[in-house]
Amino acid sequence: MTMPTIKTLLASGHPGDTVTIQGWVRTKREQKTFSFININDGSTLGGIQVVADEQTADYEAVLKRINTGASVAVTGVLAESPAKGQRLELKAQTLEVFGEADDTYPLQKKRHSFEFLRTLGHLRSRTNTLGAVFRVRNACAQAIHQFFHERGFLWIHTPILTSSDCEGAGELFTVTSLDLNHPPQTAEHTVDFSQDFFGKPAYLTVSGQLEAEIMAMAFTNVYTFGPTFRAENSNTSRHLAEFWMVEPEMAFCNLGGNMDLAEAFLKYVFRYVLDHCEEDMAFFNQRIDDTVLATADAIANSEFARITYTEAVTQLQKSGQSFEFPVEWGIDLQSEHERYLAEEVFKRPLIVTDYPAAIKAFYMRLNDDGKTVAAMDVLAPKVGEIIGGSQREERLDILERRIDAAGLPRDAYWWYLDLRRYGTVPHAGFGLGFERLVQFITGMGNIRDVIPFPRTPENIEF
Ligand code: 4AD
Ligand code: MG
Repeated sequence: MTMPTIKTLLASGHPGDTVTIQGWVRTKREQKTFSFININDGSTLGGIQVVADEQTADYEAVLKRINTGASVAVTGVLAESPAKGQRLELKAQTLEVFGEADDTYPLQKKRHSFEFLRTLGHLRSRTNTLGAVFRVRNACAQAIHQFFHERGFLWIHTPILTSSDCEGAGELFTVTSLDLNHPPQTAEHTVDFSQDFFGKPAYLTVSGQLEAEIMAMAFTNVYTFGPTFRAENSNTSRHLAEFWMVEPEMAFCNLGGNMDLAEAFLKYVFRYVLDHCEEDMAFFNQRIDDTVLATADAIANSEFARITYTEAVTQLQKSGQSFEFPVEWGIDLQSEHERYLAEEVFKRPLIVTDYPAAIKAFYMRLNDDGKTVAAMDVLAPKVGEIIGGSQREERLDILERRIDAAGLPRDAYWWYLDLRRYGTVPHAGFGLGFERLVQFITGMGNIRDVIPFPRTPENIEF
């Protein structure tokens, strides 16, 4: 049976209504003649306060079975609450226990570190912070679909299993059904993938971009939103081995249009979350990072800065800052540089464009100077790179040269090259790291705490 959530009851219930709620006990406070039991079903941060007393059926007996972590159904009458911060409470008539939880339940009332909570991936979503994170995460996903839907973008689904390395960075997880103890061998004593499931090497995708480009060449404006995988061994607060990426791709679009979309997109999502997750956002501002609300407001309402890579390098060099990685034209910007630009120089998100061709992927469009490409990264305070994108190389001959220069096999990209043979158009797109977005919005310090089941090196328990 589905019942109204606690959130719905608190928002639209009236004193005197008889209702039933279901959820998990967060706290129980016993007084002489009555008890306060806080019940949470995940729909709100605060849950609902249940008041049980002698008028509750089997009061003494049932109260003993109700402890933090237990699952219950409560039927009773809504009443105006004298307590601060809540409009209604529930006077219990009957309390039904589904499952008890004894005092070994690890989430007792005291605050736990996020590190400790990561060892409890099966329980941590029942805490205030993780609950708020996953509600905001859900709101972000809803906002993203709504944004693209309003603009007529087609939501397409790109494959998880792939035979090509989109980023050309070699950070692929191999997928095989061969017997790893006795793999078939070629005459040259390498693994014979022709005998593998797909008849050739297969991987988990690092990006849906190449397939999104195929679809943009038929539907003009498309986006994909799915899991992506990177076998990069970076143990940082911003990297996951499995993360979700949102990738719009637009035909008849250049870098300027791409930047405009990225900026409008981030503003839309922030505004949506401010409008739909007021309680959770206030919680983050109070408990996690007291700049979260001001930042969200600023993102929603102020223009992003836009500079070229070359200007960024000049800014960093004249900053007088001593960076761990020294700055010179040609280097890939490191997180410390990205954060310095966003946090100290511009104090807001900025879009850096026109990076050196040598440090960017083969598909980015070569600029007329012959050494930079029409790339763009959106850099945010605290998280650094949140979006990476570019105008794509639509000219066949130049693309072929770029594939060769990257040391990639042309024949593996035959269909990608075909798109340049048949009706090629200027086009552009970007990828947003969904978890970095959620981190940015909530102020959470570690990316492992904004995805329910993080995958990082040596971590795949839940
Ligand atoms: O900059 P990246 O590598 O760009 C692409 O994959 C392009 N194919 C996107 C496109 O143009 N369609 O990754 C895009 C974004 C980054 O800006 C970052 O936010 C996120 O994905 N990202 C990660 N997030 C979490 N963990 C990781 N290991 C990430 N690697 C990239
Ligand atoms: Mg990037």
